[in-house]
Amino acid sequence: MKTSWSRRHFLKATAGTGAGMALRGAGTAALVSATGFPQVALGAESPAVLGGKPVRTAPFSRWPVMDATDEQGWMEALKSGRWFRGSGDRVNRFEEAYAQLTGSKYCVATANGTSALFAAIGGLDVGPGDEVILPPYTFVATLNVILLQYALPVFVDSDPETFQIDARRVEASMTDRTALILPVHLGGSSADLDALLEIARRRKVRLVEDACQAHLAEWRGKKVGTWGDAGCFSFQASKNLNCGEGGAVLTQDPEIAERCHAFHNNGRGRGIGGFDASLSGCRGANLRLTEFQGALLMTQMARVEAQSRTREANAAYLTRVLSEIPGIRPARMYAGCTRNAYHLYMFRYDPAAFAGLSRAAFLKALSAEGIPGSTGYAPLNKEAFIEATLKSRAYRKIYPPEVLASWAERNQCPANDQLCREAVWFTQTMFLGTRDDMDQIAAAIRKIQTHAAKIAAA
Ligand SMILES: Cc1ncc(COP(=O)(O)O)c(C=O)c1O
Repeated sequence: MKTSWSRRHFLKATAGTGAGMALRGAGTAALVSATGFPQVALGAESPAVLGGKPVRTAPFSRWPVMDATDEQGWMEALKSGRWFRGSGDRVNRFEEAYAQLTGSKYCVATANGTSALFAAIGGLDVGPGDEVILPPYTFVATLNVILLQYALPVFVDSDPETFQIDARRVEASMTDRTALILPVHLGGSSADLDALLEIARRRKVRLVEDACQAHLAEWRGKKVGTWGDAGCFSFQASKNLNCGEGGAVLTQDPEIAERCHAFHNNGRGRGIGGFDASLSGCRGANLRLTEFQGALLMTQMARVEAQSRTREANAAYLTRVLSEIPGIRPARMYAGCTRNAYHLYMFRYDPAAFAGLSRAAFLKALSAEGIPGSTGYAPLNKEAFIEATLKSRAYRKIYPPEVLASWAERNQCPANDQLCREAVWFTQTMFLGTRDDMDQIAAAIRKIQTHAAKIAAA
């Protein structure tokens, strides 16, 4: 296969970038773009989906990451016989350490991210009759915690450039019933906190950050999750900080911290050792983290900064490479987002730049090349169970008929509908490896683009 660059020239040009290695491994003919990124040459080897050799056969980095320190911490918790947070001090220690890591004044650990949101919303006493602003591009838990409190979810359309809630549209969706703005820092990037906090302050409503995907992400140099009245995190197995299931609420307000703590502990007080039987005067549930999870979080947390830096470097590189590929538009970050956790690497796919190849066929071809991707979320605001819930006896008792009748009319998010048709995600674990991994992702996409017409016709 002849290109305008010899193989030797290519390897020299890409020395130190890992690209030479990647493409040697891939067995593809290659050239280098004007800005120095490796490309697969036109007419290169047949795509794997049509029987060619895949760009990549090795798996991406293993997840979860663990070593003897995790085993030791876990075994110590086991042997202590103190397995719940009332008897041990591992959860307390984790709360202190996570508050320190995030620069937060207070941290309340919870059983999972859903519980963190539930405790925050419960602690802030958002409930029946209140409207809560949320994005339609999020995991269902963001919605469920609103419905669990019998509040009314009000979806505000997405900004397709960033995949985040479109802060410019928030105010138009507010009414005098709005009690809370619940933005999500989707994918580990940040929602536009400047704009959202300004609206929340001016309109005197609460703001809770759903930072379940955004560990160590920053807005203007300060950790997300520490800006609003509360910030909620998930430590579920797929998350950048993981103990199987776990969560936390951060807050800077001692009263909110106490209310969230009581809410997560069946309305009971802290007492000696972080647990007692006296009632605090609020309702609640048992949303407590166990000592095993506290132990695992302590050892896992030792790696989170280094892992984040690796993801950031790889993702930033991949964005530079992918921005050269027509039809691939990586999610943009707002200027205030000074650190992205890259829980997800998100981009929009345009079939027009791939000879009309559908997103599903693109993903199938990508998977055949050894690069797993997914389509991400469906429009949450269109889930049938929401309308069914709003028609339930409880909702009909709480909300006047005209409020419920106008909900469907207000529930229009066309930009998000389009985003859900175009989105492609890679998971955070794909960014824990080397730059070669990034070059292989880009090589696979270019290969598919080169042969898109043939793949589409097959
Ligand atoms: C944006 C968002 N919110 C909330 C949650 C709920 O967290 P958990 O699964 O730990 O309950 C998740 C988890 O995937 C999430 O991604």
